[in-house]
Amino acid sequence: MMDGVVAEVNGGGLPSPRKKFRLQNIPKVTVVLGAQWGDEGKGKVVDMLATGADIVCRCQGGNNAGHTVVVDEREYDFHLLPSGIINPECKSLIGNGVVIHLPGLFEELEKNAAKGLSRWEDRLLVSDRSHLVFDFHQQVDGLQEQEKGKQSLGTTKKGIGPTYSSKATRNGIRVADLIGDFEIFAEKLKSLVRMYQRMFPELKVDVESELVRYKKYAERIRPFVVESVSYLHTALRMGKKVLVEGANAAMLDIDFGTYPYVTSSNCSIGGVCTGLGLPPCNIGDVIGVVKAYTTRVGDGPFPTELLDANGELLQERGSEVGVTTKRKRRCGWLDLPLLRYTTLVNGYSLICVTKLDILDTLPEIKIAVAYKKKGKELNYFPSSISELASVEVEYETLPGWQKSIEDVREYDKLPLNAKRYIERIEECLGVPIKWIGVGKGRESIINVF
Ligand code: GDP
Ligand code: IMO
Ligand code: MG
Repeated sequence: MMDGVVAEVNGGGLPSPRKKFRLQNIPKVTVVLGAQWGDEGKGKVVDMLATGADIVCRCQGGNNAGHTVVVDEREYDFHLLPSGIINPECKSLIGNGVVIHLPGLFEELEKNAAKGLSRWEDRLLVSDRSHLVFDFHQQVDGLQEQEKGKQSLGTTKKGIGPTYSSKATRNGIRVADLIGDFEIFAEKLKSLVRMYQRMFPELKVDVESELVRYKKYAERIRPFVVESVSYLHTALRMGKKVLVEGANAAMLDIDFGTYPYVTSSNCSIGGVCTGLGLPPCNIGDVIGVVKAYTTRVGDGPFPTELLDANGELLQERGSEVGVTTKRKRRCGWLDLPLLRYTTLVNGYSLICVTKLDILDTLPEIKIAVAYKKKGKELNYFPSSISELASVEVEYETLPGWQKSIEDVREYDKLPLNAKRYIERIEECLGVPIKWIGVGKGRESIINVF
């Protein structure tokens, strides 16, 4: 192997000349992933990195995600569209691992176009393998939550769980089905609705009007549909720079998150490979986005949650309200055991710490440094939610800086205590912190090195 990107495959005794197997200089794909329970500020980081990218892709999740980007005081919210779509030079690909609610997608495009999003028609690409979220999936999401009663998960009710269930039980309907033979699509839709109506007799679906509606959506989406695996690999061979925007976050991952209080996709690094058809050798930097404190929307254990005035302060100063559901986000101190765990799972090569400015007014800031059980430190992150809910959290208290940092653009100009806070995170995770967010706007970022 040579130089990381130039691979020479050993012929292993085959007679073919070795140079035949030499791969071109293929740029590595950069990945942005949420390191906590979501809403870390991935949208802002992707917008920043999209300046140097040719294609920005979503690989998983659906419109349960809500990514805000602020440019020139104009706020754009993205749910299904990759945030990189703001960059007029960038193509935006919705990959096969994403579940798409077409009415939601077109509504999102219209809203953002009204705010100034330009030429999206030339730049949007949708994988033909992506699964479709129907309105009845969203109704089923609500009915399942209702059925769970006190054990409900607090989903976004965007139909994410039911759609991934349809996918896994092989009843799902893909974009390729919609733009293919409409008769076959109609049969699939009817059979899917029948299946859900057997489960939930109260579910009302007007299948005929849904079919009329989707015949129109088929024509609207057709121009944007691609076979995304060959598209992406051809682009990479041509030297194009690809950026992947993770949605949701590691602690909401269906395998590694706080199951069952998770979403229904793999929102950690594995979802990048399966959601785009990218092998691990194509992946370069994996950027973990870490909010300077912790937030969570919906139910489930949260060891560092603050149910006091400090929690309220973080919620208010941080404007911690869900972009998708408008629910107040639960707030707590930064949790290093959690971040060590997601660093293992995702293998971050770089970290961006966001919203450090939100801590500006605090005289003291706590950081969770260990989880303990009966006084003994745990050397793993608990898989069971009851174990996680009962851990004793050990904190370190650091002095605050009590000074506004929103205008700081150079690392050296940060107050000493803010640098100490950053360096404590870096030391604990063993990953360099390359960027620090100090405000909402695109320009409010410190490039550390
Ligand atoms: P995402 O889901 O990870 O993209 O994050 P959200 O957009 O849901 O939530 C992050 C919120 O914090 C958004 O309103 C951003 O505009 C805002 N934000 C991002 N970075 C910073 C930062 O460094 N400082 C401040 N004050 N706000 C930020
Ligand atoms: P971004 O990309 C925060 C949470 C929901 C709920 C759980 C399951 O903006 O960071 P779902 O509707 O996915 O079945 O809900 O997951 N959740 C998120 N929380 N940010 C997100 O996305 C989320 N996506 C899902 O609140 O607790
Ligand atoms: Mg969000």
